[in-house]
Amino acid sequence: MKAAKGTKTMNFEERYRQDRELVEQALDRATAFDAAIQQKTVMQAMRYSLLGGGKRIRAVLTLEFCRALGGNDSAALPPACAIEMVHAFSLIHDDLPCMDDDDLRRGRPTSHKVFGEAMAVLAGDGLLNLAYEHLSREETVRALPHGAALRLIRSLSGASGGYGMLGGQVIDVENEGKPAPLDQLRSMHAMKTGALIRSACEMGCISAGADTLILEKARQYAEKIGLGFQITDDILDVAGDAQTLGKNAGSDEKGHKTTYVTLLGLEGAKREADRLFGEALALLAGIGCDVCFLDPFTRLLARRQS
Ligand code: IPE
Ligand code: IPE
Ligand code: MG
Ligand code: MG
Ligand code: MG
Repeated sequence: MKAAKGTKTMNFEERYRQDRELVEQALDRATAFDAAIQQKTVMQAMRYSLLGGGKRIRAVLTLEFCRALGGNDSAALPPACAIEMVHAFSLIHDDLPCMDDDDLRRGRPTSHKVFGEAMAVLAGDGLLNLAYEHLSREETVRALPHGAALRLIRSLSGASGGYGMLGGQVIDVENEGKPAPLDQLRSMHAMKTGALIRSACEMGCISAGADTLILEKARQYAEKIGLGFQITDDILDVAGDAQTLGKNAGSDEKGHKTTYVTLLGLEGAKREADRLFGEALALLAGIGCDVCFLDPFTRLLARRQS
């Protein structure tokens, strides 16, 4: 599957909409199940959290990095779906009463509010496993450059585990109610949010068969937007509203979290995010790939309101 016809000349908003649609349909197919199975509740819970919402920024980064480097959508779509599965798992668990105890996500009640805590835990586990099953399917491996499937699995599993997202969540939980210095907060954000965003960019490059130099440059860009993305999340938790965010504002204050806003103030946090996105744009320009989508996408992330 080559990138959709006319993708290069299409305006940015339309292309972003089409990317999301492509991912949405692929996720729908990847989670189709036989209604007669006895364990269907967990499948329904997995689909509830995975489909019909979210900005899909991780999937879009994977798809668009692959395109920017001349790769095909058929290679990038499975990792784009896999990272959304891992992300949805992280959100289900993040919202649990034992974690952030939130009851609104993507404009709807959180998984445990609808399906109960046990099913929400299991739906998260199911999505995490499905991600790797999806990446290791025969059709996926066939659509990818030689050896790429294993590299994708290594990138995503590393980014999700104890030295990535999960590690960041551990520090987040352990820091509750304690003051944390800025350098500790920076490394926590880099793990809990930055790692998956870095993997999204990496997986786009790997799907396109890019060399290690390109991969390294893409990582440097990703580290900037990953940190910038979580700082913006901290800002919106204070300055946003539930209607726009699709999740309740004030979650960090309720959980006694130290954030970029508590340490730097709203204006200081905004300046820091702006600085990071500015550096990201400069790094993106230096990768030497087609940035006609990724440049405006980075600018959109910098000014997002949800
Ligand atoms: C929310 O991520 C959790 C963070 C890592 C900050 P997103 O803001 O990407 O959430 P969705 O996928 O659009 O709902
Ligand atoms: C969570 O950060 C990041 C994850 C790994 C899910 P937050 O707890 O700030 O994310 P939101 O604000 O609930 O989306
Ligand atoms: Mg959290
Ligand atoms: Mg949370
Ligand atoms: Mg938050």
